[in-house]
Amino acid sequence: KKKIVIAIDGHSSCGKSTLAKSLARELGYIYIDSGAMYRVVTLYALRNGWIQNGQPLREKVIEGLKNIKITFHWDEQTEKNTTFLNGENVEDEIRQLEVSQNVSPISTIGEVRHEMVKQQRENGKNKGIVMDGRDIGTVVFPDAELKIFMTASPQIRAQRRYLELKQKGLDVDFDEILKNVEDRDTIDSGREISPLRKADDAIVLDNSNLTRQEQLQWSLEKATEKM
Ligand code: C5P
Repeated sequence: KKKIVIAIDGHSSCGKSTLAKSLARELGYIYIDSGAMYRVVTLYALRNGWIQNGQPLREKVIEGLKNIKITFHWDEQTEKNTTFLNGENVEDEIRQLEVSQNVSPISTIGEVRHEMVKQQRENGKNKGIVMDGRDIGTVVFPDAELKIFMTASPQIRAQRRYLELKQKGLDVDFDEILKNVEDRDTIDSGREISPLRKADDAIVLDNSNLTRQEQLQWSLEKATEKM
């Protein structure tokens, strides 16, 4: 069987990474969370005070890119992906609401996108990869053999994210999460550079009423057809 590239794009918090990870494990593929990369840049900018009143100091962020090294550790067995910023484990920190609230403005910066896309393509050059994000099927891997565009209603997505954060013991507010999900959809779909949109050849997966197992089965069938 030939190795393929699987691109999974879609709205915020609709389970892209959950599906991507289980697909990678089933197929023995690499998994790359492209959103984590934008989150790391955001965390770095926040730590340096380069985001003021929700506005990134563009020049500072662009200048800072060369000092950011992003690496991942993907454990296939446990389906656990860990993100590192210059060797420091920042996996939990990048999931916090402060990062979620500032990541979309950071992601509109062309130079940031250019650098991330370069690293993402490097990761995929040998195929056998599942990557999730917003522009994977449209920009990063326009030739991906399988492109999935995921979506679900904002209410359902916010509810899932709420439970996930709650289970981690975080003090969270449902309305704040719903607002964040909707705000990110708006910025991600409306930005000038690489906006979130379905690639023409992507297949849509609305998982509002599907279990994880059903989504995995469906995707595995689609993947097998392309191998
Ligand atoms: O996937 P996740 O929700 O962690 O992504 C966080 C944010 O990073 C998105 O809301 C979007 O602004 C940005 N992003 C992006 N392009 C990608 C992946 C994520 O612009 N390929």
